[in-house]
Formats: sequence, structure tokens, C-alpha cells
Amino acid sequence: MANDLLKGKRGIIFGALDENSIAWKTAERVHEEGGTFVLTNAPIAMRMGKIKELAEKTGSEIIPADATSEEDLNELVTKATEVLGGKLDFVLHSIGMSVNVRKGRHYTDENYDFTTKGWDVSALSFHKVLQTLYKNDAMNEWGSIVALTYMAAQRTFPDYNDMADNKAYLESVARSFGYFFGKDKKVRVNTISQSPTPTTAGQGVKGFDGFISYAEKMSPLGNATAQECADYTISLFSDLTRKVTMQNLFHDGGFSNMGVSQEVMEAFSK
Ligand code: NAI
Repeated sequence: MANDLLKGKRGIIFGALDENSIAWKTAERVHEEGGTFVLTNAPIAMRMGKIKELAEKTGSEIIPADATSEEDLNELVTKATEVLGGKLDFVLHSIGMSVNVRKGRHYTDENYDFTTKGWDVSALSFHKVLQTLYKNDAMNEWGSIVALTYMAAQRTFPDYNDMADNKAYLESVARSFGYFFGKDKKVRVNTISQSPTPTTAGQGVKGFDGFISYAEKMSPLGNATAQECADYTISLFSDLTRKVTMQNLFHDGGFSNMGVSQEVMEAFSK
């Protein structure tokens, strides 16, 4: 299905941990479409993950960076433009982690040190990435920056815990920074609100199996897969969507506009 949609375009892809990661699938698709990129992840994930395999497959360099560290991000952006031979056209922020979720702390019993850490990794890191790119003037005109989010930012999913608040913040950053990036640099900034997806981060959410099958039964087109999310991201990185910015774009098979579906009704009518 390759159409050279990203031929000659350069970028950075954050968050490929293993072959299930949304960022992993996106990196493979960007490569197919002719784009070149640097892969990055937190130094700790680098040791656990299989990112080297992906780098070899896509002919990419890996530059480790903790997305909460301004110093790391600065170095990453500087090195990436050197390695790739010019300014960037696309950036994917595919990062999320809640310490409260990991440690089994309920939303009504948060440890605020955990909350702060999770917010820094999952939400503020997006501002840090945007600010680093902006200050370094590292993006080409008509470039595109995408972050991944979930509908718990708008509606309540009790087990999504403090990630719901992190995603609300992340989406707000996309709008607020999107204004300045659009006005000053002609760069677009959007978030994709993705269906539940079986990845390391996704499966960390309590009751994930129930969650994913419920969403599947509610969505007229079924859940969107990681592969389909990668396809959608390609469209946002391409020149075909130049005037789409400051949006939170639902990629969820229709779930976000549903009240109830026939299948869910049937499960409740005895
Ligand atoms: P994943 O676990 O494969 O990816 C999360 C990535 O965040 C990992 O590569 C991890 O190493 C990275 N990360 C964690 N701390 C970091 C730090 N300090 N610096 C740099 N990177 C760090 O899981 P997935 O699902 O591919 O997650 C990608 C994005 O998609 C996240 O923002 C997630 O919230 C979002 N998303 C996931 C959904 C799902 O059901 N899996 C649904 C909707 C959105």
C-alpha cells in the first residue's frame, strides 16, 4: 500500500518499545512511505525493548532520550537534524505511563509524587517536545506533529485512573501550542484519540480485556488497530492534511459518538 506519501520527509518517532507499540507500527509505515527518521525512547526502555531490531529494519538511528528531560530533548533534536541532514517534517509523541496505575493506587487514593511523575511523562513531556522543537526552529514549514491520546480525556472510564487527567492536559497542550506553531512556523499539531489497543501501556489498565471487548461491541466499525492508527498517522504526516491543526481526532471506529449498540443492548435484555 506504499504511495511515497512521505518521500523526502524527515522526523523523530518517540515510544517504540516492541512490535505491539503504536509507534513501532507507525515507524514501519513511515519507512514504507519513504520517510526517514530517528527512533527514540527512554534509556531504560532501550534496555528492555527490541528497538534495535526496528532500527535495523528501517535503516534508522536510535538516540536515547528521557522525554521529561529538557537536556535530553535538546540533544535529541540537535543530533536528529544532523543525522537526518536537515530540519524535520514530522514528529510522533507516543508516550504514556502512570505510576499510580502501575502501583495499583486507586484514583481516590493517589500518591501525588506518582501523579506528578506520570503527568510529567505522559502530558508535560509533550509540551517539552514542542518547546524544544520550537526554540531550536527544528521543524520545516508545513510539518506535522502528532501525539496519542484516549477518550477518557472527555468521558469517564473509572479504571483509566489519573491517565484521564494526563490525556486532558495533553490535548489542551496540542491546542495551545498548535496556535503558536501554526502562526509562527506553519506547523500543525494534533492528537489522535485511539481505540483501546493491546500494547504494553494499554494492557497496564485494569480490566483491559473487558474494556477492549466492550469498545469492540459498541463501535460500528469495530476497534481501530495499532496498524490502522499507523495508517491514519501517515495521512496526518503527509501533505494531504496541511490545514488540519489543533484538533483532537477520534480514530475509534465510531465509538465516541455512540450511545448504545445493538450488541450491548442484547447483552442486557433478558
Ligand atoms: P507502549 O507501552 O508500547 O508505548 C509507550 C511508550 O512510552 C514506551 O515505548 C515507553 O518506553 C515510552 N516511555 C515511557 N516513559 C518514557 C519517558 N520518560 N521518555 C520517553 N519515553 C517513555 O504502548 P502504546 O499503547 O503504543 O502507547 C503509545 C501511546 O498511545 C501512549 O500515549 C498511550 O497512552 C496512547 N494510547 C494507547 C491506547 C491503548 O489502548 N494502548 C489507547 C489510546 C492511546
